Amino acid sequence: MATLNEIEATYDYLDELFRLSLGPHGDFTGALFNGDFSKTLLEAQADKHEYILKGINFEPGDRILDVGSGWGPMLRAIKQAGGNAVGLTLSPAQAKWCEQAGLDARLQDWKTADRGSLGTFDGIVSVGAFEHFCSAEEYLAGWQDQIYQDFFAFCYDLLPAGGRLYLQTMLWGKVPDYEAISLKAPKYSDEWVVAHVKKIFPGSWLPQGFDHVVRTAEPRFKLISENNGRLDYIETLKRWGEEFYKPRLAKLLPVLKWGPRVVSNQDFRYQLLALYHGTVSEVFKREIFTHQRMVFEKRET
Ligand SMILES: C[S@@+](CC[C@H](N)C(=O)[O-])C[C@H]1O[C@@H](n2cnc3c(N)ncnc32)[C@H](O)[C@@H]1O
Repeated sequence: MATLNEIEATYDYLDELFRLSLGPHGDFTGALFNGDFSKTLLEAQADKHEYILKGINFEPGDRILDVGSGWGPMLRAIKQAGGNAVGLTLSPAQAKWCEQAGLDARLQDWKTADRGSLGTFDGIVSVGAFEHFCSAEEYLAGWQDQIYQDFFAFCYDLLPAGGRLYLQTMLWGKVPDYEAISLKAPKYSDEWVVAHVKKIFPGSWLPQGFDHVVRTAEPRFKLISENNGRLDYIETLKRWGEEFYKPRLAKLLPVLKWGPRVVSNQDFRYQLLALYHGTVSEVFKREIFTHQRMVFEKRET
């Protein structure tokens, strides 16, 4: 799985700038346009929250776990809808941000949490975190299925029979040949683009398609509904890009703080380059990555 350092590399160093670009909800995953690109990003993110709550049969008063809660968009949406939400994150900057916003986000890996430490829940959501659960090294060691099975077992243990789990994740559309992924591959080739995206998400290897996730959820969970969000992700990235590159005085200080890191850290320079080239959007456009929203229900036995 992605280590604390790798999560920090993805989220903490770019934190302030992302926070200024993502909008007030702080959603850092694909929104729900459902093909209607006349929506604002804020509307599409709010529609996603509603879709998720409906998917897990949310009712006011419910206790919901958010595995990989980021800057707390679902924690906030659940609280506003009259629920009690507990989030887990590996990012200290995100945990601190949520605490200041009065949200219950814990700096804790789901792999070291259980029913004893967390209690039980009426529903679970995990939005854009599953893609971080298995590292490339773990994939190469043949552990990917076991990691996903462990995640579903963890969720199973916290839910009542019939309890719902909403899972949203990036997936491989085309699984690349691991050995060929290289920053030295021909410029703009699939392997070159994926190598740059890997710099943004170090320590993360994606599930190999939608069937892979459904298969590892069995026999604990049955799939209730699913919806592909690839085109919505491309649109979300476009909207983020427009905000990210908008010159704003508030961005000056965070950018200036990058200075020493740009000089001393080659990986950070690659991350900035990957953002500059729009490589994340490119992997979705080429269908190397895809994106899925899934609602699961805990089986009775
Ligand atoms: C792309 S962000 C998504 C954040 C949020 N769900 C949203 O929609 O904006 C991924 C989140 O997953 C968290 N994460 C990744 N692996 C995790 C793990 N093993 N346990 C807990 N959180 C994890 C990261 O810390 C980060 O908060």
